[in-house]
Amino acid sequence: MNLNGVKITWLGHSTFLMETPAGKKIMIDPWISGNPKTPASHKKFDRIDFILCTHGHGDHIGDLADLVKKHNPVVVGIYEICLWAKKKGAQQVAPMNKGGTRTLGGLKVTMVTANHSSTIEDGMEMIPGGEPCGFVIEFENGLRVYHAGDTNVFGDMAIIQELYKPDLAMLPIGDVYTMGPLEAAYACRLLQLKAVIPMHWGTFPALTGTPEELASRLRAGGVSTEVITIIPGETIS
Ligand code: NI
Ligand code: MN
Repeated sequence: MNLNGVKITWLGHSTFLMETPAGKKIMIDPWISGNPKTPASHKKFDRIDFILCTHGHGDHIGDLADLVKKHNPVVVGIYEICLWAKKKGAQQVAPMNKGGTRTLGGLKVTMVTANHSSTIEDGMEMIPGGEPCGFVIEFENGLRVYHAGDTNVFGDMAIIQELYKPDLAMLPIGDVYTMGPLEAAYACRLLQLKAVIPMHWGTFPALTGTPEELASRLRAGGVSTEVITIIPGETIS
């Protein structure tokens, strides 16, 4: 699939770094230092303009506090995550909630629902992180990318398809904490995706879903979505 100037790098698990045709850098779900799948060569960044957070679990926002101090990005997340980010030193936040769209540096970012939980573990404290979410990002070149966060499949993915028409999605497939390949294949059908990048798999032994199983379930269901299997550190464009 041609991304027409957008670059997407998988940093392992649900963490992605994306670069727009204009050179803006967007990170989704910053989990770097403790992420066993992030290559050592990809743990430092020259700049980060925006950080989008889907929910408060450590495997999604574990490096947020560190990265806001180093790069001063705009933190985009549900209201409660932004409040916490400010406490952790974020100078720039763009709080939103589900159904809302923000225009950020030429990007249109829409917050959509996810079915999951979202407590922040902050040292010994458990802090409510609001609700979990996903994002649909529309780039300047018209490409629309949906990052589902952690979720199961849900029928309202059909609404996301109808209203926002994502071309490509990052969907969790690891099972146990999110949907596995069975539900992810159904999600591809609801979303009518051209392509899917599987995420949230292979990080730990408990996450047993694989891209191969997703691909075979898509074939069995007659769904034509292409499975883009990339390795952590790899960039597609
Ligand atoms: Ni989670
Ligand atoms: Mn997770």
